[in-house]
Amino acid sequence: MDICNGIDRLCLATLPTPLHPLQNLRRHLGPDSPAILIKRDDLTGIGLGGNKARKLEFLMADARRVMADTIITCGAAQSNHALQTAAAAGKLDFDVVCVLDGPAPSGPAQGNLLLHEILGTKIVWCEMNDDEARREQARRRVMRETADILRKDGRSPYIVPTGGSTAVGSLGYVAAVDEIVNQITRQDVGDISAVYFASGSGGTHAGIAVGTRVSGWLTRIVGVDVDYIAPDASGIRPFHRAIVRLANETSELVGSGTVAPAEIELCSDFAGPAYGVPTPEATAAAALLAASEGIFVDPVYTSKAFAALLGHIKEQRYRCDETVIFWHTGGAPGLFAPH
Ligand SMILES: Cc1ncc(COP(=O)(O)O)c(C=O)c1O
Repeated sequence: MDICNGIDRLCLATLPTPLHPLQNLRRHLGPDSPAILIKRDDLTGIGLGGNKARKLEFLMADARRVMADTIITCGAAQSNHALQTAAAAGKLDFDVVCVLDGPAPSGPAQGNLLLHEILGTKIVWCEMNDDEARREQARRRVMRETADILRKDGRSPYIVPTGGSTAVGSLGYVAAVDEIVNQITRQDVGDISAVYFASGSGGTHAGIAVGTRVSGWLTRIVGVDVDYIAPDASGIRPFHRAIVRLANETSELVGSGTVAPAEIELCSDFAGPAYGVPTPEATAAAALLAASEGIFVDPVYTSKAFAALLGHIKEQRYRCDETVIFWHTGGAPGLFAPH
């Protein structure tokens, strides 16, 4: 059953993305390893692929519904989300402005900034702040100011917040769970013990959590935090609270009931010292996946998620008769960006 039926959605991603076993990697890991499947959302197509294509199918449909003509979004200088949004906007004939954390780097453009250069994306640089909450506030302010300027010019802007992680954007991953459940059934792979993926702004996590409720898929959903922020005075990690809130907003759109905090499993043990700083485990995990399967993960998101899965396999959290899934969420341009 497609729960998102009847909700506006445009076609942007190449779907379904493949779901296939990592047999050679399993051989490398040895006889105690569970079977490992990979879900290839790095192959969604638009803007070199990645998870944002799924969210953008719903976000861009919403922008069309309200008759917007310009998409404004934001992110880190090397944001995969901003790049995929710019690529999708062009394809759908929207104008686009990306508000990125400055200052503008000097020298030849690299990674996603090179792709923006090719796309001709209009970039507004935002002041950089080491504190994530302040950085986010600055991005929102600059997006609002940009929208005001556009409105004065008679334009109709549509703001897509960081990572496209609104309830509407998260519907992309509610629908993705329907897709993967169908694949699991068709491929007859049996029960899935756990699904691992990178969690950054929370929309992928919220969507998968709601999707599993809707589909009744009984599996462990493990979001791997790539930007650890310590618990607040009440002992709760702010990012965990944000995902729970987003999951509930998303759930409201599809009428699937209240998502309890315990349903959101966020693993923060592999984030490393800071966002974007590679860890030795993630670098080793990326090298192993590349050498054994010819598949690349990026240094900021997916290598940390993959390191978490490998770390938990090494701790023997899964038996050799179990099956786990690594959900690859893209990020390839990050391989060609400075760190
Ligand atoms: C490659 C990649 N994987 C995972 C994520 C995290 O997804 P989300 O922001 O929905 O948590 C991002 C976010 O930008 C990303 O670029």
